Amino acid sequence: MFQQQVDLSTYNTLALPARAEFFVTVDRVEQLAALAKHPDLAGRRRFVLGGGSNLVLTGDFSGLVVHMNLKGKSLAGEDGEHFYVAAAGGENWSDFVRWTLEQGWPGLENLSFIPGTAGAAPIQNIGAYGVEAGDFLHMVEALDLDTGRPCPFSIDDCALAYRDSLFKREGWHLSGRYAITRVIFRLPKRWRPRAAYGELAAELERGNIAQPTPAQMAAAVIALRRRKLPDPLQLPNAGSFFQNPIVSAEFAAALGEAHPTLPRYPQTDSHVKLAAGWLIEQTGWKGRNLGPVGMYEKQALVLVNRGGATFRDVQNLTRAVREAILARFGVNLVPEPVIL
Ligand code: EPU
Repeated sequence: MFQQQVDLSTYNTLALPARAEFFVTVDRVEQLAALAKHPDLAGRRRFVLGGGSNLVLTGDFSGLVVHMNLKGKSLAGEDGEHFYVAAAGGENWSDFVRWTLEQGWPGLENLSFIPGTAGAAPIQNIGAYGVEAGDFLHMVEALDLDTGRPCPFSIDDCALAYRDSLFKREGWHLSGRYAITRVIFRLPKRWRPRAAYGELAAELERGNIAQPTPAQMAAAVIALRRRKLPDPLQLPNAGSFFQNPIVSAEFAAALGEAHPTLPRYPQTDSHVKLAAGWLIEQTGWKGRNLGPVGMYEKQALVLVNRGGATFRDVQNLTRAVREAILARFGVNLVPEPVIL
């Protein structure tokens, strides 16, 4: 049932070397239920792996890696106002978004071309260009790997926030408690483009597109991502390496006085999101390497593995960048990927 001592370097897009003591690829939900009851696995560590595109491996994993390969997408329902579209946990997110658009069920186009699986989308509440998965998520179906029982989570249960969810806050993404088997999105039939994000608006304007269709929105997003974000197959990376810090409005105002070009995105009356990429660029780390890793030259927030990096290299660069930002701006950057 399990493979042993499996090389994980091709299962994480940052391409860090590590081995899994036990490894299993899951194609059917029944396999998951069997895993939960398997006597050899009682008390063992577990990790549920999706596309490995938001993952930093610190070293070999002693325990079982459950590689989610459940496939399937469908129209789960429809009412006067909405389409309910479902993806199995192991579906490729980007393929799923493209498929919904082809079917004439728009809504997820701003989230086009994000690497990873559909099942991972709610865990960190993936987001891009002014939209988050949580804006359209309806519910999550999971299997509790401690008991082997199915467990539904409503959108309210998931308690989504900026790159955060109940799954992360409870540490279930690290303990392998749940495997997300299916995600269901609720897409309004009355579609409107969400084109307010500065860079996206500029891209549409460049193409002279005043009233974009869903396909044109997706094309603009894909063009932007292709231009700024490295393809992991060519240059291994895990997407944004730090979260954009959310600070108090007073702190952001004071920082803005000292640095007038600082990008600021008010979240509430009392909190403002800052652009970590901008902060990193100001400290001179954009396009700079430390050993075999570096901060990407076209998007400073992306840490890239230029070849043969280990976790130690990633740790050294992370520390150097965080120290530079703390010293210069008094801001503490928090890594964005899951660190296992
Ligand atoms: N900026 C710089 N220098 C840089 C990068 C950014 O000055 O090297 C400035 C930009 O000019 C802009 C601001 O920072 O004023 C924001 O930059 P951008 O629009 O590129 O987005 P981001 O905040 O760096 C976030 C997400 C991305 C997502 C983009 C687009 C996080 C941690 N990252 O990046 O998500 O694609 O917005 O919506 O929230 C990911 O999570 O892996 C990811 C790629």
